[in-house]
Amino acid sequence: MCGIVGYVGSRPALPVLLGGLRRLEYRGYDSAGVAVVNHRLEVLKTAGRVERLARMADPSRLTGELGIGHTRWATHGAVSDRNAHPHVDCTGRLAVVHNGIIDNHAELRRELEARGHRFVSDTDTEVVAHLLEELDQGDLVAALREATRRLRGSWALAVVSARQPGVLAVARQDSPLVIGLGDGQQVVGSDVTAVLDLTRRVLYLRDGEVACLTAEGVTVWDADGRRVERAPTEVPWEANAVELGPYEHFMAKEIFEQPQAVRQALAGRVEPGSGRVDLRETGLDPATFQSFQRYVIVACGTAWHAGLVGRHLLQRATGRPVSVEIASEFRYGDPLVDSSTLTVAISQSGETADTLAAVREARRRGSPVLAIVNVEGSSLAREADWVLYTRAGPEVAVASTKAYLTQVVALHLLAAWAAPRGEDTGLSLLQLPSRIEATLGLDPVVQEVARELAGSEHLFYIGRGLDYAVALEAALKIKEISYIHAEAYAAGELKHGTLALIEPGRWVVALATQRSLSAKTAGNVAEVSARGARVVMVGPGTSPARSELEPLADRYLPLPEAPEPLLPMLAVVPMQLLAYHAARARGCDVDRPRNLAKSVTVE
Ligand code: F6R
Repeated sequence: MCGIVGYVGSRPALPVLLGGLRRLEYRGYDSAGVAVVNHRLEVLKTAGRVERLARMADPSRLTGELGIGHTRWATHGAVSDRNAHPHVDCTGRLAVVHNGIIDNHAELRRELEARGHRFVSDTDTEVVAHLLEELDQGDLVAALREATRRLRGSWALAVVSARQPGVLAVARQDSPLVIGLGDGQQVVGSDVTAVLDLTRRVLYLRDGEVACLTAEGVTVWDADGRRVERAPTEVPWEANAVELGPYEHFMAKEIFEQPQAVRQALAGRVEPGSGRVDLRETGLDPATFQSFQRYVIVACGTAWHAGLVGRHLLQRATGRPVSVEIASEFRYGDPLVDSSTLTVAISQSGETADTLAAVREARRRGSPVLAIVNVEGSSLAREADWVLYTRAGPEVAVASTKAYLTQVVALHLLAAWAAPRGEDTGLSLLQLPSRIEATLGLDPVVQEVARELAGSEHLFYIGRGLDYAVALEAALKIKEISYIHAEAYAAGELKHGTLALIEPGRWVVALATQRSLSAKTAGNVAEVSARGARVVMVGPGTSPARSELEPLADRYLPLPEAPEPLLPMLAVVPMQLLAYHAARARGCDVDRPRNLAKSVTVE
């Protein structure tokens, strides 16, 4: 989704803005722009990539130590230079960048046009520039505060004006904004990756707040105009955590970082000798966790797939019903949640609008919320009653990999902590990083398989139980980055209709990691093979299971020896690699798949 960056300080703003925009590219966008203030406002914007903007930018024209920048992911109005941000007022002195949606933009536009304002774009954002033009009497921050009172919807706004060349005004409502505090310079971004080059000391702006950034410092006011005093926090990520390093793509980097990500997710939470799990850091205790009558997991996309695994684990651990809801659908089903239900929200970014909306609905109905989230300081982390951080580190590729795996690890930890059954889970989890390392050794063979099936237009993924949850995630991964149409089915469900789509040469990917289910899955594999399908199977690397399953498949991907509950977490690794290599073989832009955004901050 859209990205915002802003800078005020003592160095030329343009390179800082372009650097910040490059950091935000991963969020997904279609146009980019900057506005820089010296004695006058200079704006440059274009449809297309940040690199195009950078090539067009003339540093001798775009001088100044104050500026804002934006990457746009179109909502209102087509992808065009005209609709790219920043947007300016009629005088050309004031510029605005915006993430979110102004719900009452049509009404405001009519009023502003009636008062003589000339609009040049089709965006909802432009109303803010014209509104500020009317309200700015020489105090941009006061004008912004007043303007936000008239807006409905969601916004992260950054505004500059040639009338106040040392002031960067920002505001937030339901769209993330983080202020980075430097020495003699301040920076603002839609997420921390945009500010990390300058500083790791940050302030997360909250809903309704407005802030004034100058080279000397930052002042924040709440929605009622009261000064807010809040201590800054230190971001735990290094700037180089968002560098590609030796990898060609962030997705590959993040797949290969998974052993380390899981180590971080386990650190200090599992006692190495006893395997005992301790999650007191969440503020919850096992008795409180166990006291709920029901558990509802809400999440979107990949995080929802992690939730499907969580349902198996938590239901077994608590002996109570656990449901998994697609967050964007949650509110429409008149959800049966109240104070006896624990809502568990899973999100990498902690900023997904659908997940936040589901959480707010659950809370409105009296249900407390436990967040399983990666990004510290995110909206979800702040709004939840308790937080279990996944500690995956920054995830840049649109296709989620290490975030998913650490979400599943977090759910395993939660289940083991809620209902300790001996020390098995904790001790086996400690083996996970080395087993993932061994699984990554499958990369060359997965690459060969990917080349074979990369020409397919349709793929099927099947599995039972936990393997079905992995199949759903595997199918999503290949769809989003290689654009191959893929469907995941509970293996037993094929014969109820989908088998009609199996024809000679069709590739089917079968996941068969669970001993108790593999005979049945093997039966379903035989059904598709009998109809001419070619089968890739992911299963145990040791016999007897391997010797029973391998002959059924055209290609067999053996997982390293590991306790059975870990196998679905290992099975997802070759599936991520398969998607990655298939996408490369098809010449797709792996890290920036078409139409998608990393952090989906609109509903
Ligand atoms: C797919 C993917 C998405 C996200 C979904 C939720 O690879 O990344 O499906 O999982 O948009 O995002 P978060 O976890 O940030 O709430």
